[in-house]
Amino acid sequence: MWITHFLSQLLFALGAEALNFPYESLQLTQQDVGNFSAISFGNPLSVPSVYQGPKCKIQPEDATWPSEKQWAQLNATLDGNLLKPYPLGAACYPDRPEYNMDTCAYLLGPATTTRLFFGDPLTALTTWGEGATCLQLLNTTGRTCVQGGFPVYVVNATSVRDMQAAVNFARNQNLRLVIKNTGHDFIAKSTGRGALSVWTHFLKGIEFLSDYSIGEYRGAAARISAGMEAWEAHNAMVNAGNITVVASLEPTVGNGGGWALGGGHGPLTSLRGLGADQVLSLNIVTADGKFLTADVNQNQDLFFALRGGGGATFGIVTSMIVKAWPRQTRIGGLTFYLTTGTGQMTIPSARGYPSSPPVHIADAETFWKAYRVYLGFAKEIVDAGGFGFGDVNPQGNNTYVFVGTITLPDYASERIRDFYTPLFSSLSEIGVNVPNPRHSFLPYAQAGIGVTPISFPGSSADRLFISRLLPRSLWANGSRLDAVAVVNRQNAEMGYRVTARIYGPSAEAAGYPGNTTSAVNPAMRNMVIHCVTFKQEPVDILPAAEFRAEHAKLRARINELVRLTPDSGSYFNEADILEPEWRTSFWGEHYPRLLKIKKAVDPWALFWAPKTVGSDEWEVVTADGLPTQNGPLCRTGT
Ligand SMILES: Cc1cc2nc3c(=O)[nH]c(=O)nc-3n(C[C@H](O)[C@H](O)[C@H](O)COP(=O)(O)OP(=O)(O)OC[C@H]3O[C@@H](n4cnc5c(N)ncnc54)[C@H](O)[C@@H]3O)c2cc1C
Ligand SMILES: *[C@@H]1O[C@H](CO)[C@@H](O)[C@H](O)[C@H]1NC(C)=O
Ligand SMILES: *[C@@H]1O[C@H](CO)[C@@H](O)[C@H](O)[C@H]1NC(C)=O
Ligand SMILES: *[C@@H]1O[C@H](CO)[C@@H](O)[C@H](O)[C@H]1NC(C)=O
Ligand SMILES: *[C@@H]1O[C@H](CO)[C@@H](O)[C@H](O)[C@H]1NC(C)=O
Ligand SMILES: *[C@@H]1O[C@H](CO)[C@@H](O)[C@H](O)[C@H]1NC(C)=O
Ligand SMILES: *[C@@H]1O[C@H](CO)[C@@H](O)[C@H](O)[C@H]1NC(C)=O
Ligand SMILES: *[C@@H]1O[C@H](CO)[C@@H](O)[C@H](O)[C@H]1NC(C)=O
Ligand SMILES: *[C@@H]1O[C@H](CO)[C@@H](O)[C@H](O)[C@H]1NC(C)=O
Repeated sequence: MWITHFLSQLLFALGAEALNFPYESLQLTQQDVGNFSAISFGNPLSVPSVYQGPKCKIQPEDATWPSEKQWAQLNATLDGNLLKPYPLGAACYPDRPEYNMDTCAYLLGPATTTRLFFGDPLTALTTWGEGATCLQLLNTTGRTCVQGGFPVYVVNATSVRDMQAAVNFARNQNLRLVIKNTGHDFIAKSTGRGALSVWTHFLKGIEFLSDYSIGEYRGAAARISAGMEAWEAHNAMVNAGNITVVASLEPTVGNGGGWALGGGHGPLTSLRGLGADQVLSLNIVTADGKFLTADVNQNQDLFFALRGGGGATFGIVTSMIVKAWPRQTRIGGLTFYLTTGTGQMTIPSARGYPSSPPVHIADAETFWKAYRVYLGFAKEIVDAGGFGFGDVNPQGNNTYVFVGTITLPDYASERIRDFYTPLFSSLSEIGVNVPNPRHSFLPYAQAGIGVTPISFPGSSADRLFISRLLPRSLWANGSRLDAVAVVNRQNAEMGYRVTARIYGPSAEAAGYPGNTTSAVNPAMRNMVIHCVTFKQEPVDILPAAEFRAEHAKLRARINELVRLTPDSGSYFNEADILEPEWRTSFWGEHYPRLLKIKKAVDPWALFWAPKTVGSDEWEVVTADGLPTQNGPLCRTGT
């Protein structure tokens, strides 16, 4: 959706908040509240400092659950945008009224490569995190389909007013509230049992501004809506011509939602910083139901917190203004493959770049030496402003495929060749000869990249997945990096896929205002690799005891990396649901300030998701004891 220059000027004239999109001009008024006290506004200053509320947020089976009449009245306030959806998988269960085997087969087949799941109000890509309470399976013998960790009601938000009414209703009724955008979260932070969900997905829009000033910033910028996905930003960049905004590599991640609020990496991160570093201004509905703007001039605490402090914590962000560059970006890159072992091999995609035929290395020790050489080279990729991958795919029978991709934005051809030549020389020195490495160029912005989104179910989003940031200090001491390479080798030998996302959002790359103060994890400022290790087989079908054992096994392996990188942390948006030391791991020295801000803006603890700031005062109590969203949300302690 594009709004004209004229319309945006008009919007600016309307109120004190800086409105970015028409859906922000429709706000909840005292008149709308009228005698419907369930949606009246809150006052954070009137909340007792010692918690006095009920132990748990209410559940549908509780006597205090709102009446049908109240839900209907809420729906009327929302102009009919209240949904009461059932999980799509219900089609696969004979005892459900929605049972339909053709629909079930469609969900498991053709639908997996469409956008059907992204347009569903409930689907969370991490099904185990929801509680696996309605799995899409052809054979559902012995399984049930229940609402479980999915919300009961969903507000299909179309305006700021919808969000304010939902926030007020949930707060006044002691309901659990969740915010869902794309549902990509790896630990199911966008779903919850018995919840009212605010679904931001249909709030679409992007508008480029050729000249925007705020604080010390003057330059190009873009307004982006809460529901905008990366592929939509790409389409808009292509249509607009000479403009670049930073977006995630994954086309369907919500760049106006959890991605930027929790950090947000992408192909331009070593050059331009994280998603959070792009933000110049944000609009937000806070827990009291108010709508406000946070930037360098107003609500500075929130402005600090919303850039890296995480989604689902401080309010519902409705839109933001991000930096842009008034030119196109072109990315040069290449891919190469190394293999070892005699088993069957599947060669992963070259990510759009040219690649030489896979180089087979008969001697496994030499293969792992080559892996170590590549890890050593990773720092050069970051220092050059690039983004890289270095993934070890175990394929059974002691067979491994390594895929390395190096991408460099805004480089001339010769400079790229000069850049990677030393890597291939080092590999030659250990007897690994990659024939004729060659690169090509791709425009950074590409139209239509969202046409084939990640397939679901069964995507990497649904794996048991843990990560660790590898700090620059490892590259100053070869024996420490050796030790990391050994742990990664052992992990691959245990069957885990061991991947490296190579990027470094230094303060220099972040620029103003990201290089002054923001809640971005300090460990990300001097990282070189975001190392993600995951179990290749799905875990959502496992019985609880097996899930627990699988989690403990992987966690123990990642703890080896933690032991070798005590000075680092982990990326909030791609982390373990049971991340130990998570406060310092995600936010380092920023945690105390973030907690203070959280308590000041949301003393009701209305916004809650696992491992968010202040989340440890509440917990989801599950029947099987697993860390899922399938249970009531209750205060911890007595
Ligand atoms: C397949 C896949 C690929 C990924 N690729 C990348 C990548 O390339 N780079 C990267 O950095 N990360 C990546 N991620 C991680 C991604 O950053 C997180 O999943 C992030 O949480 C996605 O945000 P979302 O809004 O799209 O998803 P959601 O799951 O809808 O939301 C995530 C969290 O943010 C909250 N939230 C969403 N919108 C708002 C809002 N408007 N206001 C307040 N809170 C909000 C939600 O409540 C939830 O807690 C990937 C994840 C997946 C599953
Ligand atoms: C609330 O106000 C509406 C009109 O706005 C009226 O129809 C309704 O009866 C009132 N309800 C109560 C409980 O006062
Ligand atoms: C809300 O109202 C709309 C329009 O009247 C209706 O279609 C929808 O089913 C209602 N939602 C619920 C949960 O009843
Ligand atoms: C379906 O699953 C059940 C329980 O796991 C199993 O006993 C049965 O053999 C399966 N049926 C088919 C047709 O695979
Ligand atoms: C949600 O609202 C959008 C319009 O904003 C509409 O296109 C979509 O169909 C609605 N989704 C559902 C499930 O009602
Ligand atoms: C982009 O910028 C270049 C150089 O400034 C210019 O030649 C070109 O016409 C511009 N293209 C568009 C679509 O504006
Ligand atoms: C491993 O090798 C055995 C024997 O050759 C074969 O049957 C099996 O399918 C292989 N496993 C994998 C994962 O390739
Ligand atoms: C490098 O790290 C090893 C292992 O931690 C340590 O024993 C050694 O002292 C370090 N060397 C330097 C020069 O810091
Ligand atoms: C932040 O980056 C800007 C460039 O965007 C630079 O001018 C400024 O000096 C930097 N400030 C700090 C504290 O690094």
